Amino acid sequence: MARFDDSFKELEKSVMEDMRRIYSEKVIANFLNPRNLGQIQAPDGFGRVTGPCGDTMEIYLKTKNGKVTNASFWTDGCGPSIASGSMTTELIKGRSIAEARKITQDDILNALGGLPEESLHCALLAANTLREAIKDYLAFKNEPWKRAYRR
Ligand code: FES
Repeated sequence: MARFDDSFKELEKSVMEDMRRIYSEKVIANFLNPRNLGQIQAPDGFGRVTGPCGDTMEIYLKTKNGKVTNASFWTDGCGPSIASGSMTTELIKGRSIAEARKITQDDILNALGGLPEESLHCALLAANTLREAIKDYLAFKNEPWKRAYRR
């Protein structure tokens, strides 16, 4: 058993070393331990976008007095998309909708300490999903009861 434990630790160490060669510590932390993962019941804003890669992301918003009081995400995408969704929801919590609306792909990339070229679109997926969630929030802001009739 001790030999199995040792080889498992060796494998884990080598996987982490490989990841560190490609990703920043922030990407790894948000991927391995995503913040705000899951759904929010009866959200005030909801966005779902499928990117050209075929992966989908959802973002849920709870608001009060024009501020994002809670946010969560879900994705069936890659590690960088998990890190991007996690970071995006962290970036918008506590901000006004007007501020959250200004969050771009670059803001997410900067907060993550960058992503490899081939994963830049994963941060774009998060930015686009956030935009959809805010659009949804704005559409129902003044008449929330209309959500019940949404198709
Ligand atoms: Fe599709 Fe990353 S490869 S979101």
